[in-house]
Amino acid sequence: MFELTGKKAVVTGGGSGIGKAISIVFARQGAEVHVIELSHEAAAQTLSEIEANGGKAYSHTCDVSKQSQVREVFKSIAQVDILVNNAGIAHVGNLENTSEEDLDRIYQVNVKGAYNCLQAAVASMKQHSGGAILNLASIASHVGIPDRFAYTMSKGAIHAMTMSVAKDYLGAHIRCNSISPARVHTPFVDGFIAKNYPGQEEEMFEKLSKTQPIGRMAKPEEVAALALYLCSDEASFITGCDYPIDGGFITLNN
Ligand SMILES: NC(=O)c1ccc[n+]([C@@H]2O[C@H](COP(=O)([O-])OP(=O)(O)OC[C@H]3O[C@@H](n4cnc5c(N)ncnc54)[C@H](O)[C@@H]3O)[C@@H](O)[C@H]2O)c1
Repeated sequence: MFELTGKKAVVTGGGSGIGKAISIVFARQGAEVHVIELSHEAAAQTLSEIEANGGKAYSHTCDVSKQSQVREVFKSIAQVDILVNNAGIAHVGNLENTSEEDLDRIYQVNVKGAYNCLQAAVASMKQHSGGAILNLASIASHVGIPDRFAYTMSKGAIHAMTMSVAKDYLGAHIRCNSISPARVHTPFVDGFIAKNYPGQEEEMFEKLSKTQPIGRMAKPEEVAALALYLCSDEASFITGCDYPIDGGFITLNN
């Protein structure tokens, strides 16, 4: 089960955290993995871990918010069977203290970046026998999270884009789903704690861990396991769905 042999998978932001774990698991299951990354060094690290385990992977240094770069990369890959739209950035702030520049920056990467990759991947999948797409949404797509105005806007868009693409490409045999993690322990979380709560890192880490009713943050590998299922042929009846992976955050925080 969950074999990806013979498939080409594109994972954006595959140099770190969740994207890295997904890249490693997909390669282990036989996929040829294409990591699209802003950071060449981070992608190289993922590739070396994949190759050390006998897997096949390529890296493409690319900013997903730049349409021409994304198109070039997808052209060089030719056939794409799986796309994981994972690259994303965080922002802390409410409506009033979110600047226009911050809103635009989050939009460019989290929303437009996903759009650029969806458009390029769908064009390739339509020419072949379809494909599977997985978008990284968030619990913020479903419930109000304090001080995450711009980020929530972007992840709501991911959830909505998922349904739109799933509906429009049913006939092309392209499945499109999203997953909504609560907090996952990655450099993304460590980075925003360090930036926004300097000197209170340990305390904030504990606090954020406990906001999941299960009592901790997820591990990237736990998210990768769900990603593998949804992108595999075993999930062939699933499209247009969002899967929370949240330690009970959405339904048990009462
Ligand atoms: N970590 C969490 O708690 C959490 C929770 C819910 C959703 N998510 C989502 O999961 C995804 C991955 O999160 P993570 O925690 O693994 O993040 P991370 O910061 O560890 O990794 C993100 C990767 O994306 C790359 N990236 C950023 N901007 C890019 C761009 N413009 N073009 C190409 N690559 C770019 C970065 O270089 C980095 O390697 C994000 O979309 C995030 O919003 C994370």
